[in-house]
Amino acid sequence: MHIYRLAIIGFGNVGQGFVSLLLEQRERLAKQYGLSVSIVAICDILKGSVYDPDGLDPELLLASIQATGTLEAVRAPHIGWSVLRTISESNAEVVVELSPTNLRTGEPALSHIRQALEQGRHVLTSNKGPAALYYPQLAALARARGVDFGIEGTVMSGTPTLRLGRELQISATITHIQGIFNGTTNFILTQMEQGLSFENALAQAQEQGYAEANPEADVEGYDIAAKLMILAHLFMDTTLRLDDIDRHGITQLTGEDIIKAKAAKESWKFLGTLEQTAQGVKGHVGPVRLPAHHSLASIQGATNAIVYSTDVLGDVTLIGPGAGRMETAAALLNDLVALQRKREESVAAP
Ligand code: HSE
Repeated sequence: MHIYRLAIIGFGNVGQGFVSLLLEQRERLAKQYGLSVSIVAICDILKGSVYDPDGLDPELLLASIQATGTLEAVRAPHIGWSVLRTISESNAEVVVELSPTNLRTGEPALSHIRQALEQGRHVLTSNKGPAALYYPQLAALARARGVDFGIEGTVMSGTPTLRLGRELQISATITHIQGIFNGTTNFILTQMEQGLSFENALAQAQEQGYAEANPEADVEGYDIAAKLMILAHLFMDTTLRLDDIDRHGITQLTGEDIIKAKAAKESWKFLGTLEQTAQGVKGHVGPVRLPAHHSLASIQGATNAIVYSTDVLGDVTLIGPGAGRMETAAALLNDLVALQRKREESVAAP
């Protein structure tokens, strides 16, 4: 049994979901994977910071947040530690980076991730900015330090999209990628097909915990662009800058456009596309009116989908959740189990 000492930076929806999932799955993780977790630190700019090298009580962490919205009911030997101190001085082996982050700069998550990797700590994150902007550099730093940089949750939350792409690449070349990569806007478009206004549909998506802190990132396509940048790094060996991507939001679409398409048995979907061209890889984000027979036309609500087009296998499609508290927490848990699998392989190696 290996006990992973975790520091969680940012204790919002996803961080709390991750702690509940670890609690729920505790026995199975121990039995099936020989993995146990001790949460040694939580740092949140608004809710407070606590550090106990011997491990915090996860039930108390969640109860405190539920009762007061803060960590003030949690007793710990160190209270009020800064993130930097946690990353540099705590005994955490894994840093889970979930702080609210600017998609354009990747900060503050980017600095936290760099620092944690420099210190030889594994990093798991669902923050898209750092992976979109600097995945190759951060992955190289992780390799040099012999640690993992897990980013499964950055694209389609717990639906194992990046894992699938990596598996496909074993035997095939990925030549084109297209998908519905934003839960909030697919939810909005689906609700608008039922007659809801854009504003009411967005408010509902925010209530469900799908939306970014700033809805502009969802509705103007910055979130999808960041996901395309991640996919381009991983599967097309290409670094795209945000400005390289031809990006259009959904705010120009009216309720009337959507209802008209529905009447013609078509539907507007907000798509992200990566294509190989003679000038290199091009990224596009924008609303597209799809005929009913298109494989992405029937994807409803916050569900996402990706179509990997490959030379050997043709099209491979994956459909699943793309956002949400427990859905994103599931991706972090997958990355943690991946760490444990690698560890067991290296222990078993002669
Ligand atoms: N706001 C994003 C979405 C969260 O709605 O898909 C997941 O990246």
